[in-house]
Amino acid sequence: MKKILITRKLLSPSEEYAKKIFDAKLNKKDQIITKEELIKNSSDCDGILSSLTEKIDASVIEKLSNKIKIISNFAVGYGNIDLVAAKKRNIIVTNTPDVLTDATAEIAILILLGATRRIKEGIEWANKKNWKWSADFLMGKQLTGSRLGILGMGRIGRAVANIAKSLGMIIHYHNRSQLDKNLENGAIYHNSLESLLSVSDFLSINCPATNETKHIINKNTLKYFPDGAVLSNSARGDMIEDNAMVEALKNGKIYSLGIDVYNGEPDIHPEYLTLPNVFVLPHLGSATNRTRTAMGNLAVANLEEFFNTGKCKNAVN
Ligand code: DGY
Repeated sequence: MKKILITRKLLSPSEEYAKKIFDAKLNKKDQIITKEELIKNSSDCDGILSSLTEKIDASVIEKLSNKIKIISNFAVGYGNIDLVAAKKRNIIVTNTPDVLTDATAEIAILILLGATRRIKEGIEWANKKNWKWSADFLMGKQLTGSRLGILGMGRIGRAVANIAKSLGMIIHYHNRSQLDKNLENGAIYHNSLESLLSVSDFLSINCPATNETKHIINKNTLKYFPDGAVLSNSARGDMIEDNAMVEALKNGKIYSLGIDVYNGEPDIHPEYLTLPNVFVLPHLGSATNRTRTAMGNLAVANLEEFFNTGKCKNAVN
């Protein structure tokens, strides 16, 4: 029986599944483990089922036991793992695509609405109990009829587009390449970031965190947006240069921001917490029972497939 380290607590159906087919080392107290603990705890293992709370960079990968052949990440994103360093050591890295698409798209729309309809301020007023309805109380911007730019038209981006279309939005997107007509489903392609941002009354960030997308929304690119644009980021914190964003939120270039993911999570830029026009959530994109169970099961199935066949359809390196 292969031995695996499961770095964080999974929902019980996924841990039961893992225990049936592997000698599984669990993290019963669900404590976040350090790099040193990851290396030590996995030293007698054949594989690791990791989570986005572990930064598995080159310095960690170099020190992993020679026995480790696979890192199965419990997420669709894998920016926490150095794929090149893993490849050099012949370690396959896998992710959990598809199963979290819908849940994450729901959160992308929720934070877009939260930002544009001033929900943070609305909750604060409701809690204060001294609010008064008036014709111009907490007015936001409406999605219906507005242009939504989607940065990264993969599975999640397309699911966001579908929901947004049902809300009457006009969809534009930028991607490394133009999609086939059937996947595009009426969305308008822009072959440059500048062109997409310049028509984005609203923008949903749905691209993966890579070297190319790091801080893609920065002091220079923020200038391309129409004045008063609304942004939502449900992908990874890395895509936004926070200080530039805070400045744009303060001077009105950006009307509001809905955000679920952060640079240096669980830290959150302090001004995102104090500015009235930032609607924050603590990385809830895939947080439904159904989705987290499906993700855990898929992360285990990826290990099973690899140990049975020597490869895995969800390999990313
Ligand atoms: C992912 O899978 O990348 C999600 O952000 C996890 O919640």
